[in-house]
Amino acid sequence: MKILLVGSGGREHALAWKLRQSPLCKALYCAPGNAGIAEIAEIVKIGSEDVEGLCSFAKDKGIDFVVVGPEAPLVAGLVDRLREEGILAFGPSAKAAQIEGSKGFMKDLCAKYAIPTAAYGRFSDLASAEAFIATMDGQLVVKADGLAAGKGVIICSGRADALDAARDMLEGGVFGDAGAEIVIEEFLDGEEVSFFALSDGRTIVPLVSAQDHKRVGEGDSGPNTGGMGAYSPAYFMTKELESTIISRIIEPTIRGMAAEGCSFTGVLFAGLMVKDGVPKLLEHNARFGDPECQTLMLRMEGDLVKVLKAAAEGRLESVREELRWSDDAAMCVVMAANGYPGPYAKGTPISGDLHPGDPDVRIFHAGTARGEDGQLVSQGGRVLGVCAKGKDIAQAQKKAYAAVDGIVWPEGFCRRDIGWRAIKAQKGEAA
Ligand code: AMP
Ligand code: GLY
Repeated sequence: MKILLVGSGGREHALAWKLRQSPLCKALYCAPGNAGIAEIAEIVKIGSEDVEGLCSFAKDKGIDFVVVGPEAPLVAGLVDRLREEGILAFGPSAKAAQIEGSKGFMKDLCAKYAIPTAAYGRFSDLASAEAFIATMDGQLVVKADGLAAGKGVIICSGRADALDAARDMLEGGVFGDAGAEIVIEEFLDGEEVSFFALSDGRTIVPLVSAQDHKRVGEGDSGPNTGGMGAYSPAYFMTKELESTIISRIIEPTIRGMAAEGCSFTGVLFAGLMVKDGVPKLLEHNARFGDPECQTLMLRMEGDLVKVLKAAAEGRLESVREELRWSDDAAMCVVMAANGYPGPYAKGTPISGDLHPGDPDVRIFHAGTARGEDGQLVSQGGRVLGVCAKGKDIAQAQKKAYAAVDGIVWPEGFCRRDIGWRAIKAQKGEAA
C-alpha cells in the first residue's frame, strides 16, 4: 500500500515509525513532515490544513490509505473529501470531529447520554454568562468553544476572574471566532489521565492510558504548553478503573455519536479527571495526543497499518487480536526551544547522538528541519521527543534522560522531572 500520513509533529514521527514497520506499507509519504520523518518517509510539501492540495496529491500519487494526525484537518473535513474521492482514510468526518472542534457539542453529548463530566453552561452573550457565573461557587473554567491551538481554556480562581475571561472571549475576541461561543464549567479536582480507544463507529478497541505534563516548569508549575513529556501507562490505572472508563465514558460516547448521526471512526482520546477512583470527562479529542502517542507507539506490538485500515473500513472487530501491548512502561521527555511556550528562536543548530544504540530508546522529531548545509535545526517550540521503554517508569526515565544528555542543543531545554508522580508512587510515597 501507498500510505500518506498528514502532520508534522512528534506524534506523526512516532506514527510514521510504526506504520513503516508494517509489511503492508510499500511506500510512505508525509505532508508536511519534519527532518526526522524525512529519514523514513518521502516528504510532501503540502500543509496539513490544505485539504484540496492533499486530496489532489493523494489522487495523483494513487495513495491507498491516508492517516490524519492533527485535529485541524479533521475538523476542516479532510477525511470527508478523501472519501468523496474514493480514498480510504483513518480519522473522523468533520461532523464527528466536532467532538473536539466544539466544546459545547461535546458537553451537550455528555448531558444527553449521561456521560459524567463537569456541570456547565454554553453562552454567546456576556449577560447570560454573567448570570450563570453568579450561580457558581469556587474555581471555574472558561473555555472557547472552538479550536484555539490548545490555549482556549482558562482556569479561574473565582467569579470575578471567570467574568473577565468570558468578557475577553465574547467581547474582546481574544480567540477570534473560536471564542464567539464559550463553555463555562465547574472546576474538577483530581488526577488527570488520558485514555485512548479506536472505533469504526460501532466496535470499540480500547488502547491504553497515558499521562502528560502540561505545565512548562518542574513540579508542574508555570504556563500551560502542548505537553512537556508523557508516560504510559498511568501509574494508578487498574483493570477496574479501565473498565469504568470504557463503560461509563467511551462506550456511551461512541453509541451517542452514532445515534446523533455522526458515527465516530478514528481514535478517541478522552481527557479524564479521576478522583477516588471515579473518572469524569474533561474533554474528548478526535486524534492521538502528542506527546502521549509517542509513548503508545513504543509500547504497541502488532501491525498498526492493519489496525487503522480495519477501523477505516468499518471492520475493527476482525483485528481485535492484532493489537498487543508491551508490559514495559514508556516515557517521552520533550525538548523545547528556550522561551517556549512564549516567544522563541528558530533555526538553532542541534547535534549530538540522535540515534542512540539502545533499542529501547527512540528520538522522535517534532519541530525540526535541515538547513541548506544539511545541519539539523529547530523549527518550532516543541522540537524533540526523547523516548525510552523500560521495565518500569523509573527505568524508562533513566534511559530517556541518558539520551537527552547525548543531545547537544544549547538553545533548548527540557523538564528534568517527567514522571515524578509515578516514580513517587512506585517508591510508595504519596504524590
Ligand atoms: P483542554 O484544552 O480542554 O484539554 O483543557 C486543558 C486543561 O485544562 C486540561 O488538561 C485540564 O488540566 C484543565 N481543565 C479543563 N477543564 C477542567 C475542569 N473542568 N476542571 C479542572 N481542570 C480542567
Ligand atoms: N498532550 C495533549 C494533547 O495532545 O492535546
